[in-house]
Amino acid sequence: MSNIVIISGSPTQPSRSYAIASYLNKLLSTQGHQIEQINVRDLPPEDLIYANFNSPAVNQALEKVKQAHALIVISPVYKASYTGVLKTFFDLIPEKGLAEKVILPIANGGSIAHLLSLEYSFKPLFSILGSQEILSGVYLLESQFSYKENELTFIESELEKRIQTAIENLLAKLKEIEPSL
Ligand SMILES: Cc1cc2nc3c(=O)[nH]c(=O)nc-3n(C[C@H](O)[C@H](O)[C@H](O)COP(=O)(O)O)c2cc1C
Repeated sequence: MSNIVIISGSPTQPSRSYAIASYLNKLLSTQGHQIEQINVRDLPPEDLIYANFNSPAVNQALEKVKQAHALIVISPVYKASYTGVLKTFFDLIPEKGLAEKVILPIANGGSIAHLLSLEYSFKPLFSILGSQEILSGVYLLESQFSYKENELTFIESELEKRIQTAIENLLAKLKEIEPSL
């Protein structure tokens, strides 16, 4: 059984990123995986903004990251990148804190124009923190799905398939690294 942490980085609530996180939480939990969900928006804003390394709430979240085999990181695209809110949390992860973790990046945006933000923005963040296993990400255009009370509805079934394939790839990578998982 693998231990997977899902991090969502939207400053708004309700949010598409949070709905995607909840969808993946359910999907993976029903397959017997140990899932923790971190909604960065729920952490104390002052601790994030002032980079308070002594924050109990932040340290609790960081401990979940430390224990994880894999992270699924979901952020809306803001100004052609991940959100500042997400970055405040990742700034508190220790140097090389993602070494030996598999990362699946997921971006959701209003425009397809920023598809490549996964490559030039999201992936370098995980790389600098030491991950050597950053999987192909998934980009969700907000016109391809809707959400209500954190329930996702796929308008394009192709998107659901892409997400499920990404999850299968993540689980296969974890098995390859640690066959007992
Ligand atoms: C401040 C701000 C900046 C945004 N910048 C972009 C952008 O550069 N590219 C893009 O495709 N969408 C952009 N969007 C649209 C959001 O990425 C999109 O609405 C996303 O689905 C919101 O996700 P959320 O509901 O999880 O917050 C922006 C939205 C906001 C509020």
